[in-house]
Amino acid sequence: MTHATMASSLGRENFFWHKLHSLTGIVPMGVYMVQHLTLNSFSWAGPDAFNGIIGFFEGMPRHLSYGLKYGLIWLPLLFHMIYGLFIAARGQQNYTQKAYKYRENMYYTMQRLTGVIAMFFLLIHMGTTSVAAQFLGVEQTITYENWDRILTAPIVGVPYLGLVFYCLGIMACTWHLAYGIWNFCIRWGITISEKSQMGMAKFSLGAFVALTLLGWFALVGFLVPSHPLKGHKLEEHKASVSAPMPTEIAAL
Ligand code: HEM
Ligand code: HEM
Repeated sequence: MTHATMASSLGRENFFWHKLHSLTGIVPMGVYMVQHLTLNSFSWAGPDAFNGIIGFFEGMPRHLSYGLKYGLIWLPLLFHMIYGLFIAARGQQNYTQKAYKYRENMYYTMQRLTGVIAMFFLLIHMGTTSVAAQFLGVEQTITYENWDRILTAPIVGVPYLGLVFYCLGIMACTWHLAYGIWNFCIRWGITISEKSQMGMAKFSLGAFVALTLLGWFALVGFLVPSHPLKGHKLEEHKASVSAPMPTEIAAL
């Protein structure tokens, strides 16, 4: 292989892996995070609703649940994380440009920084939920009842440190995804004109705010046991469990 062909094949390879990295950020990771935060907000509907969702995934046939978990979440995330670290390590910004470039450089740096924060957040989060549940069982780790403890119990003597950790971790992930959507659209030629890029910037900002609020909303759902909606649902559920079934009534 000549130098020229080797260089061009290396270039193609980098192009391919970079595009794949970009794609995995949106699909499946971005899509997964949106559905994950939405389902977590079922915390507001009470323990039965939230634990029901966990039970649904746990109750899937093994080949399906392992395929989804490892094939559609872990593998793309692992690739995105490792290649992302590689990009972040060799990334350079250029602060010597004009003023309007400064902001772009700041966002670019933030994208890499939030990627690294997301990595630490996810290592701890996945280790204490998904991985721990595999060894200790869901009842000891991730059911509704445990979230109150995870978020409020003192860690190194500081109460509510878990809540702070989750609030910040969610923010890092939502910023990373929101700005990522804007960058993705430019990279893939979806937004070409300056006007369309400005429009997408507004959409990304909206996505950042909406997804952060959704994640925080889900957290608060674990901490407000007296919320009227939750109380109402729980009472309704208790009544339906204790009420005699129509067949039992007929047998009386
Ligand atoms: C696990 C730790 C993660 C690391 C280390 C990481 C790292 C990175 C880096 C460095 C970039 C910039 C790539 C570039 O400049 O070309 C990036 C882009 C991106 N990431 Fe991540 N990331 C992580 C997790 C996530 C997660 C959880 C999501 C989704 C929720 C995500 C979604 C994206 C998106 C959408 C992009 C933009 C793709 C593009 O520029 O075309 N990342 N990531
Ligand atoms: C409101 C905050 C959050 C809560 C309450 C929460 C809850 C959970 C729970 C209960 C699990 C275990 C699922 C299982 O093993 O069945 C889990 C796993 C996971 N979470 Fe979160 N999560 C939150 C935020 C996030 C964020 C912001 C991300 C970023 C993308 C994320 C990514 C993941 C991943 C990748 C897994 C592993 C999936 C698996 O192994 O099946 N989570 N989370």
